[in-house]
Amino acid sequence: MLVQNKFESMCGIVAYIGSREAYPVVLKGLKRLEYRGYDSAGIAIINKGLKAYKKQGKVANLEDELVGKEMHSHICIGHTRWATHGEPSDRNAHPHLSGDSKLAIVHNGIIENYAQLKHELKNQGHIFKSDTDTEVLVHFIEEIRNSNFCSVEEALRIALKRVVGAYVILLIDQDNPDTIIAARKGSPLVIGIGKGEHFLASDASPIIEYTKEVVYVNDYELVILRADELILKNSSNEIQTPYIQKLDMELATIEKGGFDHFMLKEVFEQPQTIFDSLRGRLDASKGTLNMGGLSEYAGVLKDAKRIIIVACGTSWHAGLVAEYMIEELCRIPVEVEYASEFRYRNPVVGPGDVIIAVSQSGETADTLVAIESAKEKGAIILGICNVVGSSIARLSHAGAYTHAGPEIGVASTKAFTAQLAVLCLVGLMVAKEKGTITAQRFQHLLDELDAIPDKVTSILALNEHIKIIARKYKDARDFLFLGRGYNFPIALEGALKLKEISYIHAEGYPAAEMKHGPIALVDENLPVVFVATKDTYYEKVVSNIQEIKARKGKIIAVVTEGDQVIPGMADDVIFIPEADELVAPIISVIPLQLLSYHIGVLKGCDVDKPRNLAKSVTVE
Ligand code: F6R
Repeated sequence: MLVQNKFESMCGIVAYIGSREAYPVVLKGLKRLEYRGYDSAGIAIINKGLKAYKKQGKVANLEDELVGKEMHSHICIGHTRWATHGEPSDRNAHPHLSGDSKLAIVHNGIIENYAQLKHELKNQGHIFKSDTDTEVLVHFIEEIRNSNFCSVEEALRIALKRVVGAYVILLIDQDNPDTIIAARKGSPLVIGIGKGEHFLASDASPIIEYTKEVVYVNDYELVILRADELILKNSSNEIQTPYIQKLDMELATIEKGGFDHFMLKEVFEQPQTIFDSLRGRLDASKGTLNMGGLSEYAGVLKDAKRIIIVACGTSWHAGLVAEYMIEELCRIPVEVEYASEFRYRNPVVGPGDVIIAVSQSGETADTLVAIESAKEKGAIILGICNVVGSSIARLSHAGAYTHAGPEIGVASTKAFTAQLAVLCLVGLMVAKEKGTITAQRFQHLLDELDAIPDKVTSILALNEHIKIIARKYKDARDFLFLGRGYNFPIALEGALKLKEISYIHAEGYPAAEMKHGPIALVDENLPVVFVATKDTYYEKVVSNIQEIKARKGKIIAVVTEGDQVIPGMADDVIFIPEADELVAPIISVIPLQLLSYHIGVLKGCDVDKPRNLAKSVTVE
C-alpha cells in the first residue's frame, strides 16, 4: 500500500440549518462540489437522535442508499472526501462520530499530530472505527467535553489549541439539535445568510442559488450557527462582527476559483501543489528527507540491478525526466517504458528489478496490467500516484502519493510537476542510501527543491506575456519543441500539451536529433520552441538554435534569467529563474503549459475537455 502523507485535502463540506428540509439542500450542495473531485460522500442529520450515513463512491450512491429512509431534519452536515488518511471506503468516509455517538464531525484538511493524539486517546480507552485523523479529532473533543464538564463549543476551542494542521470542521451535537459549530484554519469556509436559515460550504457554489449574502470565515475563527443566529468568535472567545459580502459571481466561475478554465486554475495551483508534494518529506533547513513507507524500500532500490519506469502520456514524460535524475544521482540503470508496449512484448523482468509505475489517476489500464504481470514475475512494484487508494496504488508494494489534489482538466499539468518533485525525492533518497551523492550536493538539491514553489510563482506572473506570444503563433499549422538533457522530456511534454489542447500538430525532439530528419520541416512558417535553460547542454543548444535560425524558422525560447545570448537570436523569449538542471524541468514546463493553454483558448478549443480524450484511460 502507498504511504499517505500530510496533505491539505480537497474535500467538500456543506451544511444547512433552517426551516427547509435540510437533507435535500445538503445533497444538492454536495453535487455542486463534485467538480472538486472526491471518492466518497456522507451526511449526518438530527431526527430522534443523531444519524450518519456514508458511502464510498459518488454522491448518487449515497442518495440511492438513502431512498426510502426517514430523512426529515432541519439540520444537516455533509461531506465529500478525497482520501488522505486511510483508503477510500465507507468506513473512512465522513461524518465520523464520537465514542458515545452524540457528536458528528465533518472535516476538510489534515490533523498533522493525529497519531500522537490517537495514541493518547487509545490509552484512555477510546476505540476507533476508521483510519482517519478526523475520527481522532471528534474523540478528542468528546474526551475534553467529558473530562472538563464543558460545552462542545468550549471543548472544541480547547482541542484546537493542541491540533497542528489545517482544517475546516463542522460539528453537530445530538443534545443541541439547533446548532452547528464550525471552525477554520487554512481551509476555506463560507457562510450563506438566508432569512431564518444559514448555509455553510467550502465555497459559494452550493449556496449561491439560495442567497448572495455571504461571510467568509477567517483563520482561527469559531462559528456558532443557528437558524436565525450567527455568532463569530476569535480564538480568545471574543465575539467578532461578521463582514457580510455580496456575491456577484456566476456559479461556474466559483467552481473554477475565478479562472476561466480548470486547466488554468490547475496551472496556477502549482506553487501550492508542488509544495504539498514536498510537504512532510523534505526539510531543507534540517537537511532531511523522509519518504514514509517508501523509505523502507530505499535498500531494495539501492541494490536494484535496474529500475524500470512504466507509464503513459504525460506520466511517461515524468518517467523520462526521472531516468536522467536517477541515473545521475544513483548510478543505477533506468529504463522508461510505455506501459502499453511493456505489457505486450514479454519483457525480461523478474526478481531484482524494481518497477516504478507513474500515474496521475492510478487507474490507467495499460499501466495497471503492465505492473500486474511484472509483479507476478517477481519484480518489486513501487507506485507514484495522485489518486489515493487507486488501483495502481493498491497493487504496488509501496509508493508515494503526489498530493497534487484532484486534477479536473483532462490535460495533466499540476500532477506532472508533482510527479517530477516526488521522483526527484526518490532519486535523492536512493543516492543518499547508496552513497552516490556528496553531502554538499544533497543539501544543495534539497535547497533547490525547496525554492521551486516560489520560482513557479514568478513564472506564473508571465502569463500575459505568454498570452501575447500565443496570439502571434496561434495560426501555425505545426510546431516543433526541442530540448536536450533534462529538458528533452519537457520538449516532448510541451508538444503533447499543445496537440491536446489546440489540435495543432506538434512534435518534440532532442534538439540534436533535429538534424537527422525534422530539420526538413523548418521554414519561415514553423515556430520552434526551444527549452534552452542554462545547463550542461547550453552551448550545444545555442548551436541548434543557430541551425534553425539559418533556415528562417521562428524561435520561441525558454531561457534562464540573465541569458544574453539566446535572446539576441530568438523571435520571442520567456525568461525563467535559474535552477539546478536536475530540478529545472519542474519549472521549465510551466511556460509551455501556459502557451498551450492560451493557443487553445484563442483557437476556441474546449481546453478542459479536448475532443476524443478522457481523464482516466481505463481501456486498452
Ligand atoms: C496528457 C495526459 C495523458 C495522461 C496519460 C496517463 O495531458 O493527461 O497523457 O498522462 O493518459 O494517465 P495517468 O497519469 O492517469 O496514468
